[in-house]
Amino acid sequence: MRLKDKVALVTGASSGIGAGIAARFAAEGARVAVNFRPGSPKDRDAAEAAVAGFGANAIAVEADVSKHDQVEAMVARVVEAFGRIDIAVNNAGIEINKPFLETTDEEWNRVLGVNLQGGFYVSQAAARAMVKQGGGGRLIFISSVHEDIPFPNYTSYCASKGAIRMMMRNLCIELAPHGITANNIAPGAIATPINQTVLDNPIAFKNAVSEIPLGRFGKPEEVASVAVFLASDEASYVTGSTYYVDGGLTQQVTMY
Ligand code: BGC
Repeated sequence: MRLKDKVALVTGASSGIGAGIAARFAAEGARVAVNFRPGSPKDRDAAEAAVAGFGANAIAVEADVSKHDQVEAMVARVVEAFGRIDIAVNNAGIEINKPFLETTDEEWNRVLGVNLQGGFYVSQAAARAMVKQGGGGRLIFISSVHEDIPFPNYTSYCASKGAIRMMMRNLCIELAPHGITANNIAPGAIATPINQTVLDNPIAFKNAVSEIPLGRFGKPEEVASVAVFLASDEASYVTGSTYYVDGGLTQQVTMY
């Protein structure tokens, strides 16, 4: 039980990497708030089913992370339900496959809204609550290998992830006096719904796997284990870092 009684909020936790992190946190004894986005009955059902499976110490919290007021209300709800917040995992993310020359304002704002504004709103609201309650805290951002390496036709996504990297590095310094650490996990190709098109296309899948030294896609649990470490007492001196969980992708990428 590496997170016994800690209170954690995980955004975008109704599927994929977020769901994997929420499940692992609960198994490690944390009280978990499972965020899901409004307007998707499927996500609501998944979040509620996950919470029911975790037992009494979990809640499902609806919020569009790109909306400041919804994020404030969500963090307030977590603090009301559990009395505090110790860990915020900024995981909610979207990507749009579109050549730069064709990307619209609306698409750019949508991706930056969820990935970057969302990270800002959630980490700021959580950090303010952590400062108020005292005793430090943990901010974890699920960025991407594309916080650093280019991904043609995903410029909005790369811009959002690169910005998250810089935000995290600044927060490391600004929040250190409060005992709050900030770190990124940069996943590579993980078998989750965001990659469904590639997973369903044998040629695209083969090309993607050929870029990965370990020769396979990762699993959400393999990202979750690093998140547990960063959230646990064992990572007390770790801040301002990016942890790549990518099967070696960043070391040999030629970009499929
Ligand atoms: C993206 C995936 C991509 C992976 C590796 C992730 O951040 O969401 O679409 O397969 O990076 O390139």
